[in-house]
Amino acid sequence: MDVTREEKELIKWAFVAAKYAYSPYSHFHVGAALMTKENGLYLGCNIENSSYGATNCAERTAIFKAVSDGITSFTAIAIVGYLEGNDPADYAYPCGICRQVMSEFCDKDFKIIVARSEDDYKVYTLDQLLPESFGAENIK
Ligand code: THU
Repeated sequence: MDVTREEKELIKWAFVAAKYAYSPYSHFHVGAALMTKENGLYLGCNIENSSYGATNCAERTAIFKAVSDGITSFTAIAIVGYLEGNDPADYAYPCGICRQVMSEFCDKDFKIIVARSEDDYKVYTLDQLLPESFGAENIK
């Protein structure tokens, strides 16, 4: 699937965001760069907690930052992940909870870019990574 020049730029920003990861327990850095419908940019990193379950993923950090600013429409997100001091060993796919949070605010064609570098990436739609999902229409 194609990405625009602006969407490709998200990868660079995801690496910037990953630098701020608070991950003293896993030492795994995750960065997310989220594009809003108005071409705005929100960055997020993972924020861990000594009570592990209180950890927040990078993708949700970016989405929650935007939503708390009153912005709820998004077109694409880039995600990178790597063990501290290393280059990404693999693509960092969003966890199930993050995919569900994306589905609350994003259309089926929302683009999810997972990258190992600026030139090594894969692109999916949200519908590909979260098919047959549960949503607001199911509780009407
Ligand atoms: N993590 C994310 O930030 N996003 C994901 O989608 C998967 C996992 C973080 C949480 C934790 O800080 C670290 O990666 C290891 O699980």
